[in-house]
This record gives sequence, C-alpha cells and structure tokens, in this order.
Amino acid sequence: MNTTMKRHLSSEILPSGLPPVASPDDEAPAVAANGRRIGEVILDLQNISLSFGGVKALTDISFDVREHEIRAIIGPNGAGKSSMINVINGVYHPQKGRILYRGQPRAGMHPSAIARQGIARTFQNIALFKGMTVLDNIMTGRNTKMRSGLLSNAMWWGAARNEEIEHRRKVEQVIDFLEIQHIRKTPVGRLPYGLQKRVELARALAAEPHMLLLDEPMAGMNVEEKQDMCRFILDVNDQFGTTIVLIEHDMGVVMDISDRVVVLDYGKKIGDGTPEEVMGNEDVIKAYLGTSH
Ligand SMILES: Nc1ncnc2c1ncn2[C@@H]1O[C@H](COP(=O)(O)OP(=O)(O)OP(=O)(O)O)[C@@H](O)[C@H]1O
Ligand SMILES: [Mg+2]
Repeated sequence: MNTTMKRHLSSEILPSGLPPVASPDDEAPAVAANGRRIGEVILDLQNISLSFGGVKALTDISFDVREHEIRAIIGPNGAGKSSMINVINGVYHPQKGRILYRGQPRAGMHPSAIARQGIARTFQNIALFKGMTVLDNIMTGRNTKMRSGLLSNAMWWGAARNEEIEHRRKVEQVIDFLEIQHIRKTPVGRLPYGLQKRVELARALAAEPHMLLLDEPMAGMNVEEKQDMCRFILDVNDQFGTTIVLIEHDMGVVMDISDRVVVLDYGKKIGDGTPEEVMGNEDVIKAYLGTSH
C-alpha cells in the first residue's frame, strides 16, 4: 500500500450525532500525528486481567480509546488481542479491572446491551449465516434497532411495516457504501473469503455503530482486497466519524491507517503510542523478532 492511502482528514472533529461527553480524566482532545483532531476518551480500560483456568490471557492491561480515532491492537499469536475485543464487547468478563464507556463504569454487561450502546464488531473467524443471502445477513445487523415485536406487528402493522422499510433502506445504504450490490442476493457461503469479510463488515455497519471492533478484517486477503478493506475502514471512520478498534497483523496497514497502537505480548501490554513510537520500541521489536511475524 502506498502513502496515498493515508487519510487526509479535516481538522474538524466529525459530528457523531451524540451529546458531548466529559472525558473521565478531563483530558483535552488530542491531535493525531496527521494533524486531525481526535476527540476525548470514550472507552477507558483500567487494569484488566482475564484468565481461563490457569491460562492468563490478559494481565493488568490499561489503555484508552478516543472518539473518532483508529486504535490498533497488535501482537504475536496468542498475545490476547481477541480476548481484549471480547472483553470490550462483553463476551468475556475480566476477573480484575474496570471498564468505563463514555465515563460510565460498565460491569457484567451482556453483549446485547453493549451492542445497544453502539458497539458493533466483526469476528476473527467469519460468523455469518452461510446459507442465507448477503442481504439477509446484513439485515441481522439491524436486530438491535428493531422495536416492533410480534404483538406490535399484529396490532400496529402499519408502524411495523414503516419500520421494516426504514431498516431495508439503511441496509441498502450500507450495500451501496461497501460496493456489494452485485452480490446482494447471493448466499454468503458461495462467496470468496475476501467478500465474506466485507459482508461481515456490512452487517456490523448496519447497526450504525459509534464504535466498531474489527478482529483481523484483512486476514487471508490478497494485496488488492486489503487495499479495498483499508479504504472502506478509512471511509467509515471519515464519513460516519466511527471510532475503530482494529486488530491487524500487517504492519504496513497498521502504520498507514491507525492513529495509535497498543501492543500486547503474552497477555501483557508492552507498547502504546503512535505507530512510529511503537515501531521504535525495543520491547516491541524483540517480541516481533522472536516470532514468525
Ligand atoms: N475461551 C478460551 N478458553 C481458554 N483459553 C482461551 C480462550 N480464549 C483465549 N484463550 C487463550 O488466551 C490466550 C490469548 O488468546 P487470544 O485468542 O486472545 O490471542 P490473539 O492475540 O487473538 O491471538 P491470534 O493472533 O492467534 O488471534 C491464548 O493463550 C489462548 O489460548
Ligand atoms: Mg485473535
């Protein structure tokens, strides 16, 4: 990927449609290395520890995510990256530590409640309904937005019908945005891997998230597919102001599109800063030289 892929964002903070929130630490908004202003801290992870039986997946990890930024999580295999995403969206509950989302402590919250707070995700191993069409899979991303249940469907069929039309309209917007009109009626299982990854992104976007958690969205893709995916991630961040937490192994991608990077190794945080800062960090270099990455 060349440097033209790098973002060229305005210095304005993008409108998120949300009321302004005070940073838990009352920190001033930061300015990213590329000159773009990013917002205040919206997700604050404090001293997170998570273990599975004897396996310590995460040990005393603290970092934050600021509104509108692209925050990468990197590290060798088994470092705890996916576990961290699973903690953020409530699949795993850490034994120790505190999570603040928009300044509010969040303990023991169910993934569906977290999704309703505006956090959507994609999975390291694609989690789509392979026998269903692209359109129907993306429609499942609207679940958190659906108000009418069976009873209201029966009583207020007009309202439910309007709601359905609105959901379909949003889904079609996402389909246009990600340029997948040509496959909208294709069963997902028949698509090549790279397109399935894009459909998974589409399903997450259909929820109109404020924060998007992407677990290796480019794994297994060729160079051209990676460039497309980078462009879509930058466009989502740019046009919708979506905050993005991204797990990625490709250092070129990380350097090109992320504002800040947190580095994990054996469940511990070994680096945190701009891409340039972490790439110059001795511990990070050692962790990477000691592995196949
Ligand atoms: N559900 C689980 N049960 C038991 N151990 C788990 C579970 N999930 C993760 N682990 C362990 O926690 C550690 C961190 O795993 P995790 O999947 O978070 O790493 P990762 O950084 O995402 O790795 P990769 O780059 O291979 O995806 C590993 O030792 C893993 O085996
Ligand atoms: Mg993983």
